[in-house]
Amino acid sequence: MPKLNILVGTMYGGALDVAEQVKPLFEQAGYAVEIIEQPSVDDIVSGDADLALFCVSTTGSGDFPGSFVPFVRQLRDQSPALTTLRYGLIALGDSSYGDTFCGAGRALDELLADHGATRLGERLEIDAMETFMADDAAVPWVEEWIVAQQLEVA
Ligand SMILES: Cc1cc2nc3c(=O)[nH]c(=O)nc-3n(C[C@H](O)[C@H](O)[C@H](O)COP(=O)(O)O)c2cc1C
Repeated sequence: MPKLNILVGTMYGGALDVAEQVKPLFEQAGYAVEIIEQPSVDDIVSGDADLALFCVSTTGSGDFPGSFVPFVRQLRDQSPALTTLRYGLIALGDSSYGDTFCGAGRALDELLADHGATRLGERLEIDAMETFMADDAAVPWVEEWIVAQQLEVA
């Protein structure tokens, strides 16, 4: 069974809620899914997962949530080659923060690309100004993402 790791960075639980809501969609498509709340670089380089989905909100002024900072530090310090990593990215933010809207998700996307990883599809940016329940935006996006990436296991 193929494996999907969902790596979460959250302050108030919204990104974790998104991860929990989309998990069954991947399971229905034949994936074994693990939600990782304190991610480390091992979760994307150990080779036990075929695919990763990041659910990451933004805090401060375009900053990563505290639980996600160690992952980013490790990535910057260890600078592993991520050429086999395929990932999707759901960024949570609030456009009332202006220029730093979804700053953490955008910075993460850039960091992963810098290390050779391949993003599948477009990044989803969920704006708290427009979407009260983040999973209302995430669930249909993931449904389409699964079909687009042909993740279904026959
Ligand atoms: C103190 C604070 C700072 C924030 N800073 C930003 C920001 O710079 N950019 C942004 O897009 N959203 C920002 N947000 C909005 C959150 O990213 C948004 O509410 C998100 O849905 C929270 O997700 P979470 O529940 O997973 O932490 C901030 C929220 C708070 C409370």
